[in-house]
Amino acid sequence: MKAAIIVGARPNFMKAAPLIREFKARGTVTPLLVHTGQHYDENMSKIFFEDLELPQPDMYLGVGSGTHAEQTGKVMTAFEQVVEDERPDLIIVVGDVNSTLACSLVGAKRLVPVAHVESGLRSFDLAMPEEINRMVTDILSRFCFTTSPEAEGNLKREGVTGDRIFFVGNIMIDSLLFYLEKAKRSRILEKLELEERGYILVTLHRPSNVDDPDTFRGIFGALAEISRTSPVVFPVHPRTRKMIEAFIPPDSRPKEIRLIDPIGYLDFVKAMEKARLVITDSGGIQEETTVLGVPCLTARKNTERPITVDLGTNRLVGTDGDVILEAAKEALGKETAEHRIPPLWDGKTAGRIADVLEKQFK
Ligand code: UD1
Repeated sequence: MKAAIIVGARPNFMKAAPLIREFKARGTVTPLLVHTGQHYDENMSKIFFEDLELPQPDMYLGVGSGTHAEQTGKVMTAFEQVVEDERPDLIIVVGDVNSTLACSLVGAKRLVPVAHVESGLRSFDLAMPEEINRMVTDILSRFCFTTSPEAEGNLKREGVTGDRIFFVGNIMIDSLLFYLEKAKRSRILEKLELEERGYILVTLHRPSNVDDPDTFRGIFGALAEISRTSPVVFPVHPRTRKMIEAFIPPDSRPKEIRLIDPIGYLDFVKAMEKARLVITDSGGIQEETTVLGVPCLTARKNTERPITVDLGTNRLVGTDGDVILEAAKEALGKETAEHRIPPLWDGKTAGRIADVLEKQFK
């Protein structure tokens, strides 16, 4: 069986790597790795191939940045040709980025079955582009591989039948557990002169947080205040870098907020594992901190990953700077974060996916 596996943006790479490793080990599925080029910077893409030992993509579509319609359209046009030339038996998409949506649309129209890994997550917020991508991808997918129990209800409510839903667990955690020991050897703390548990790690890139000047200034102001007591390490996404330049004057950027370029997977896992607190608006980081037992404040009004709040270390704190500041002070006052690991976040998700596919394609 030939399966096209789609990666495009940074959060896709750690979800594809365990699948490729599993397929190669079993020899039952031939992976065709397609990189759409949605992310293309060295530190948004290439470094992840090295850190995660991903093979070079079989196809690179080079679509780059653009509006949602431009980006989605370019991926569709280029990927349709790949499907025409390569005739995959299956298209595997992961996550919720524009490349995920575009390739599932192409698959559905070309009558190639689509498998969606990380299916059924819902924030119920249609102002979030990812929510639209998730909904459309799921409705078109023959295989909806879910990470947590509530996903099934979300899918069924939208008309996905039970025979398409497979609860397999969280593939991102496959990568986290597989690379944790290697990540522990990263020298990032020495490089940044940080002490274990002595700093706060921040990532922000959601348009709803960083594209709006008032919201972003409020959050940045909270970080500036927090940095007076504890250094803040902030690897800055390219979108956020532009917004810092546009909205935050240089004299409002204290040097205790370490604005650094995005870092690779192993360095980031290490920085996360040893942080005192993480403040983020990312999806995956809510899950990774839950498994690592590191307290996480999510600067969003909702989450498509409620299990990280119910069982894990995650707390939703919204986007108001004052509220974030108070929550950070409270979190810093506690020694440990109580947490339980959600079911099937055990590092064996790729194996369960391969089992399902082998059975169905026999
Ligand atoms: C995308 C995903 C988002 C994911 C995020 C992780 C969608 C709708 N959004 O958002 O779900 O959480 O990736 O990073 O697919 N840029 C560069 N170099 C790059 C990539 C981007 O400079 O390698 C800049 C460009 O100016 C671009 C902007 O970042 O316009 C945004 O990139 P884009 O892929 O459109 O969306 P993200 O915000 O990265």
